[in-house]
Amino acid sequence: MSALEELAHLERLRPAPAPPLSVDAGQIRRFWEEGYLALEGISNEEELAWLGRVYDLLFEARLAGVPGGYFDLARPYDSDGADRTPQVLHPRKRVPALAETGLAQNGVRIAAAILGEAEATLDAWDHMILKAPRIGAELPWHQDEAYWHPGFDYRALGLWVPLDPATPESGCLSFLPGSHRGELSPHVHLGEDPSIHGLRAEGVEEQGAVTVPVEIGGATVHHCRTLHRSGPNRTENPRRAYATEYQLPPAPRARAAHRPWVVETARAWARRSTPARDGS
Ligand code: NI
Repeated sequence: MSALEELAHLERLRPAPAPPLSVDAGQIRRFWEEGYLALEGISNEEELAWLGRVYDLLFEARLAGVPGGYFDLARPYDSDGADRTPQVLHPRKRVPALAETGLAQNGVRIAAAILGEAEATLDAWDHMILKAPRIGAELPWHQDEAYWHPGFDYRALGLWVPLDPATPESGCLSFLPGSHRGELSPHVHLGEDPSIHGLRAEGVEEQGAVTVPVEIGGATVHHCRTLHRSGPNRTENPRRAYATEYQLPPAPRARAAHRPWVVETARAWARRSTPARDGS
């Protein structure tokens, strides 16, 4: 069976959606105070086991939802060697059943409640980040908005769901509470190399950082400006994480923000030797 046939087969095996979860007024208030929130019960073991099978297949076959959407965040695009921290962009576009899970339903419900908007007004897009056993790389302090087009204002948050227990040893997230209220920090590419997709915020004062381990079935939610990082994976097991971004349609800015690292990314992306390498 080809990977695509196997995926189609797996889609038909999707279990019943995990039970509904929402957030209360206290949790919403805490999110806006701290810039992040930890949750329990976003999904359940059965659904996460199915997600794990889809996840593993996508990474094994290097399949993403868009051309070129499989790449390593921590080393130059399409370079030789073992992937340390590969990413799959837009898996829902490849596997539509991912949007039918209890996790997906809970995610949009919670995002809408936090952002104070109707679910139907939110765009959702997803990505998967794998930290390989022992060699999964650190992703240093950054704000997710730093990766996005500087010509828009965003109202957005990310839902981060580990498929394996996320611990300080395996590379769970840390947050800087309150940092979402600040401006976007200047960012640089990892290793000062624009052909490495990962970014690092400059001048971060780490004092007060909170590390948030997450058990199976749990999640964290963070604002698109919240400074966060994840450590390397020092364990013998993969650290698989599935993230979904929820946002209002971005509002065009009168003048684009000055974010030269985004321009560098676009140039490096255009130079990729095999931009359409997505296994299809
Ligand atoms: Ni991030």
